[in-house]
Amino acid sequence: MKHLLSIGDLDRAGIERICDRAAAFESVGGQDIKKVPALRGRTVLNLFYESSTRTRSSFELAAKRLSADVVNFVASGSSVEKGESLKDTVLTLSAHRPDVIVIRCPWAGGPELLPRWTDAAIINAGDGKHEHPTQALLDVYTLRRRLGNLDGVKIWIVGDVLHSRVARSGIVAFQQMGASVTLAGPPTLMPREAESLGVEVRTTLDGLREADVVYALRMQHERMDDAFVPSLREYASVYQVNARRLGARQLLMHPGPVNRGVELSGDVVDSPQSLILEQVAAGVVVRMAVLYEVLAASRSGDPITEPQPA
Ligand code: NCD
Repeated sequence: MKHLLSIGDLDRAGIERICDRAAAFESVGGQDIKKVPALRGRTVLNLFYESSTRTRSSFELAAKRLSADVVNFVASGSSVEKGESLKDTVLTLSAHRPDVIVIRCPWAGGPELLPRWTDAAIINAGDGKHEHPTQALLDVYTLRRRLGNLDGVKIWIVGDVLHSRVARSGIVAFQQMGASVTLAGPPTLMPREAESLGVEVRTTLDGLREADVVYALRMQHERMDDAFVPSLREYASVYQVNARRLGARQLLMHPGPVNRGVELSGDVVDSPQSLILEQVAAGVVVRMAVLYEVLAASRSGDPITEPQPA
């Protein structure tokens, strides 16, 4: 795999290979010196045109734990504010000869343009409403750790599906791994193509107890230019996942950041059923595995040091 632009770049075997490698990297975080030399001398450029807490910090940590050199580029405070285009920014930064560019941007399809302008391997860290493949991988990884495998597991994705790149990549990855996916939320927040994705679509949370896993999504105000729900209070009264609606044996996930009191009540966020912090922790090892995968492919014949035992 030269690039990771879309979760569709990976088949089931590819997803499993990345999850297995991520598991092998778990021991690195437990060492006193949290580093292996796998990517020593390689340069990873993080190019972020949108805000990010989890994704950016975990890509940075992942690259550093593999001993790569990391350059972080955030659009504010850069020449982008002076009108430099994506193409010119990438051409300019490519003069530093990065081996990997990790890009998050508000433009669907933006990451696919980069291979025209640079030889670096490209990893999509979220492009508009389109895709977020590394989030899908870390979600699969988190569930495999908890459940062993996803075959036959029932996953309900609840909330603002329309604006969610997390859902778009997650649906594909969960289905690849054998899970069945149900989407639930207000009709105004369901993508028109939902029925063609091989999922079930519900407009209420009746039946939520059938789910093994409830995956809640953030209400994405920043991507809404119209009123999609009458008010957040009314939304919460019908669609909030809370202790009344969530059964005791159900697992709860959310990509973060959570709007407490909107899509989730505070008590379920903090409950033992919540995998939210495990998802964040998984982000580091899964992104280590993805960086390793794209760099191993771009330099085939040049074996990279395997992770060392602690
Ligand atoms: C998500 C994103 O930015 O796509 N967050 C993340 O990467 N963990 C989801 C969101 O913003 O709601």
